[in-house]
Amino acid sequence: MSRLIINGQKRLEGHVYISGAKNAAVAIIPAAIISNDICVIENLPVIEDVIILSKAIEKIGASCEFRDEHTLIIDSRNIKSCYAAYDSIKKIRASYYLLGALLGRFKKAEVALPGGCNFGVRPIDQHIKGFEALGAKVTVEHGMIKAIASKLVGANIFLDIVSVGATINIMLAAVFAEGTTIIENAAKEPHVVDTANFLNMMGAKIKGAGTDVIRILGVENLHGAQYSIIPDQIEAGTYMISAAITHGDVMVHNIIPKHMDSLSAKLREMNCNVEEGDDFIRVIAKDKLSSSNIKTMTYPGFPTDLQPQMTALLSVANGTGVITETVWENRFQYIAELKRLGANIKVDNKIAIINGTKNLTGAQVCATDLRAGAALVIAGLAAQGQTEIDNVKYIDRGYEQIEEKFRMLGADIKRVDD
Ligand code: EPU
Repeated sequence: MSRLIINGQKRLEGHVYISGAKNAAVAIIPAAIISNDICVIENLPVIEDVIILSKAIEKIGASCEFRDEHTLIIDSRNIKSCYAAYDSIKKIRASYYLLGALLGRFKKAEVALPGGCNFGVRPIDQHIKGFEALGAKVTVEHGMIKAIASKLVGANIFLDIVSVGATINIMLAAVFAEGTTIIENAAKEPHVVDTANFLNMMGAKIKGAGTDVIRILGVENLHGAQYSIIPDQIEAGTYMISAAITHGDVMVHNIIPKHMDSLSAKLREMNCNVEEGDDFIRVIAKDKLSSSNIKTMTYPGFPTDLQPQMTALLSVANGTGVITETVWENRFQYIAELKRLGANIKVDNKIAIINGTKNLTGAQVCATDLRAGAALVIAGLAAQGQTEIDNVKYIDRGYEQIEEKFRMLGADIKRVDD
């Protein structure tokens, strides 16, 4: 068990370099096993989810070799099993991408159902609806989800809900389907586009990723490819918000500034100076922060995965801010922990009302999930005195070298292993 210990109120200054995107990595690793060939995936973040997923695909017969810590060579020529057991994937929700990938390649897949999580149930009915439309029979028994098809045939699929997971999973299953598959009301997130770009590099024919209509023309073969994953929009946003809360001056490098538009606009509204270059953003927060209202939306709207971090920021802004969570049914559990640091927040169902206070004060807190953990780190950086964050395992699932990166910016943060 690790804890993070932060002595707050140090102004962050300097340069931080953003890693590859977690949510692209967890889709692209399963995508690689669709080809009966070798793929080289570069710019992978060094995080728990990547390790777990690479071990899970090894268990079904792929061979995985890290050329260096950010580059994984996946040889999928010897995959024999289409069965991913609960033990190998229980820790990651994105294990559901193994379903689409195995169904696409072998026309059958049996994968343990992803569990619930700390911010509510995570249904996969839209994934199943997509697989069934392509001709698969899908059943759930003994905690395993089974999909099987004699052949897959392209279909028109209109998603009832804009779902990142369903959009990517249907793309994975449809690359070899006969004819054309059309996904309408598709998710437009950068990692949807990244996965489509990778599949296209392997020989798939996918058009329209990044819009709400994606067309997949089935092909007969995919070949190996070498691909570099996009930068992590949410990690970048976490450092931008940290710069704001510490009244700092931080250059966030290795990013795609366009992906940050919704956050940059909010930070400007809150009185920060946000400057953009080709692959960096500089956040300077000299003045008093003013409040703002935020509604989480699918891309290009404000990302739900930056909602907890923004709540931390609004806790010390001048005035009252309102956050409306529209993507997840229950993503405010962490607020009880923020309150332990002195935040003044009321929650009513999907709305949080945040009255800015002058100072947060350090306390012992516990991360309830990945982004909740990031929010507590951000709050701890601004708080007077010492903050101790438990359950760092959640943070490690999605942030590479979080304490090292913050230390480079001048934070007083260390990890203690019990
Ligand atoms: N939904 C359904 N049925 C489905 C699928 C989704 O009702 O079949 C609902 C969900 O309950 C939710 C909404 O649709 O209310 C959106 O869910 P989506 O499928 O888009 O989420 P996801 O693919 O499971 C990904 C990210 C999450 C991020 C969401 C929303 C990955 C591995 N995870 O999850 O990231 O919050 O999209 O942008 O890509 C994180 O990184 O901390 C994280 C939780």
